[in-house]
Formats: sequence, C-alpha cells, structure tokens
Amino acid sequence: MRNVKLGINIDHIATLREGRKDKNPDPLEAARVVLKSGGDMIVMHLRHDRRHIKDADIANVRENVKCLLHLEMAATKEMEKIALKYRPDSVCLVPEFEDEVTTRGGLKLKANSAEIKRITKTLSKAGIEVSYFVDPEPQDIRMAHNMGADAVELCTNVYAESWGKKFQAGELEKIQLAAYLAKELELGLHAGHGLDYYNVAPLAKIEGMDYLNIGFSVISRAVFVGLKTAVSEMKRAIQ
Ligand code: PXP
Repeated sequence: MRNVKLGINIDHIATLREGRKDKNPDPLEAARVVLKSGGDMIVMHLRHDRRHIKDADIANVRENVKCLLHLEMAATKEMEKIALKYRPDSVCLVPEFEDEVTTRGGLKLKANSAEIKRITKTLSKAGIEVSYFVDPEPQDIRMAHNMGADAVELCTNVYAESWGKKFQAGELEKIQLAAYLAKELELGLHAGHGLDYYNVAPLAKIEGMDYLNIGFSVISRAVFVGLKTAVSEMKRAIQ
C-alpha cells in the first residue's frame, strides 16, 4: 500500500449551494463525510469573488471539525489576512484571474516573487505550512525552494488534458521529473487539478508523493453514488 494521502476539495459542494443561495448542501457536513470516508485532508479554495466557498465556511470547518485544513488562495494581502485569522494547517498559493472558470496553470513566480516571498514568510512564522501551485518545470521547483516554500503542488492540468492523447507519456514524465527534483530539494510534494478516477493512478505511484488534492471529479461522482462512496473509491484508486 502506498503512503500518498488524499486531500478532498469541497468547493463544489458550495457551488451547488450557491445555485440557490441557500444553506444546503453544507460544506461543513461534506467535510465530516469526507473524513469518515477516507479523505485525509479538507481542501477549500477561497476565491476573490467568493463564488463557492465563503469566509464563514472556512470558519465553520475550522471550528467544528477536527481535521487538517488546507486553504487554496491567491497571494494577496486580503487572503493573507484571512489565513492568519482562520489558521488553516496549510496554505497553497495559487494564481487567480478575473474571468477564469477554474485555476489554469501554476504561479508565475518570477514576476511576483517579492510579494509571494513576503506572504510565505508571514504565514510560515504563524506556523502555517506553505506550498506553491507550480507547473511541473524544474525552474519553478527550484525557485519555490529558494523562496522558502515548504512544499510544491504540481499542476496536473495539462497532464489531465493529455489523457488518451499522444503527448500523455511526455506530460507524465514531466511530472515525474519535477517530483524527483522536489524530493531532492526536500520539498513536500503535492499534485492536483483535473485528476479523476482514471488519470490519478500513475501519479499515486510517484515516489515521495505526499498529497493528491482532488475536487471536481469526486463531487461530480458523488451526485450519482453519494459522497461517501465517491471518496472511498478515490481513496482506493490511489492506494
Ligand atoms: N489544486 C489546486 C491548487 C486547485 O486550485 C484546485 C481547484 O480549486 C484543485 C487542486 C482541485 O482541482 P479539481 O477540482 O480539478 O480536482
């Protein structure tokens, strides 16, 4: 059995709730089911427009559920303040653009290094583990290490899109090499975005993979089979 852990992103429970701007389905209840069904960590992405997860959801989960809480957020002063207020166990800094439907690609570390470095320092001082969402490129992994990140989350968007196509093997190799470098640099190793029940297996086999963070495919499957089954099936798929 492998040691890779499963972070379940519960954003899309909140997406459904926002369809009616109602109380249900409640991300708090989802967090409880995820933890009972094999999920190792609760992942929530607070976006600037609050289109799914709201500040109160983070407070609710933090206060009412004993779990590892991982917050995905943009590297902004507003989000930094929120992280310091709610104290997730870990934060992943991600890029965010006005019109995006979901995150596309990793952080542009070179262009934003001063601010990202500053936020990393503040969060680290507060005891929050910091990871950077990066493309599986050697220069980004090295830069994350130099800037003080504890871990990298390798962006698996392009790999996921390559599934069943000619360039699939090349994309997997890119991730394997990036993972190898991250471990050489003694960084924590996470991967995520666009992962599903099929494309996840080769990533779970990567030596040293600590966390796979998965949301959309699991919540989509939950619509048909229930959240408990959807999470436990994913847990099985990565073991
Ligand atoms: N990792 C990061 C950094 C993300 O921004 C997201 C989406 O919020 C995920 C993982 C989960 O992606 P998906 O919903 O495609 O599984």
